Amino acid sequence: MKENPQELEQIELELLLEAIFRRYGYDFRHYARASLKRRVAQRMQRAGIDRISGLIPPLLHDRGFFDQFLKDMSVTVTDMFRDPDFFVALRTQVIPVLKTYPFIKIWHAGCATGEEVYSLAILLKEEGLYDRAQIYATDYNNHSLAVAREGIYPLKQMQQYHENYLRAGGRRSFSDYYHARYGAAKMNDSLRANVTFANHNLASDGVFGEMQLVICRNVLIYFDQQLQNRVLTLLHDSLSHRGFLCLGNKESLKFSSVQDRFEDHVYEQRIFKRLPPEYRA
Ligand SMILES: C[S@@+](CC[C@H](N)C(=O)[O-])C[C@H]1O[C@@H](n2cnc3c(N)ncnc32)[C@H](O)[C@@H]1O
Repeated sequence: MKENPQELEQIELELLLEAIFRRYGYDFRHYARASLKRRVAQRMQRAGIDRISGLIPPLLHDRGFFDQFLKDMSVTVTDMFRDPDFFVALRTQVIPVLKTYPFIKIWHAGCATGEEVYSLAILLKEEGLYDRAQIYATDYNNHSLAVAREGIYPLKQMQQYHENYLRAGGRRSFSDYYHARYGAAKMNDSLRANVTFANHNLASDGVFGEMQLVICRNVLIYFDQQLQNRVLTLLHDSLSHRGFLCLGNKESLKFSSVQDRFEDHVYEQRIFKRLPPEYRA
């Protein structure tokens, strides 16, 4: 039988993902293949390994190697007030509704190193809603969560963040929200007071209850259709009736099993509203 290198690579990749799942419970089996393969290739190059199957023994037997692999697997690109227009829509089309509630719970899923969480905290403060809010910010990457908890970011990025903040409708100076020291900016402690950072894996963990707002942006793009469906169902089940779901601008509810359980709220910014059961199509 003739050897088909692509087929062999596919077999090796599936064995690798299965091994990781069975050994550590981390489920990458339904991550979108293109970016997954790029990350695996990077790890192979750094470890000097020339076949995917060569990663299996060190991953199974060396916890440190696995931790490094995990770190490499997660794309943590993020920004303060990333996509400022999204934050404008949040401020003008969602916050006024949330202001009518005595207390709000927010789940920020896939929060990476926390920049989006601090952005949201600033917005809630400026809208007088922060003291009535509890924010749960989760990610499966503990390295990112550690950075998020500390809230210390390179000072050189602050000018860009200040511009994003103003474009997002910010009313003060972004520098009011951090202290600069030794080339770093530490976000004010008061922004963290109502935030709980926690480990949560969207591929395997369960729902959060009765959230009025769920933000999960630029995470679904890394998943295949089946995993997107699981995650969207999880996000739906975590929302209260008429709760808001925010996705990234390249993500949608299309082709998912919860598509008819939401209505568009601000479609251009991928903000959806959960429908009560009697309104479903
Ligand atoms: C590109 S970042 C997006 C960060 C932020 N939401 C934003 O839009 O700027 C994607 C994040 O999703 C997280 N992620 C990927 N798979 C995950 C999973 N199964 N469970 C939880 N978080 C996951 C990654 O660790 C990473 O922090």
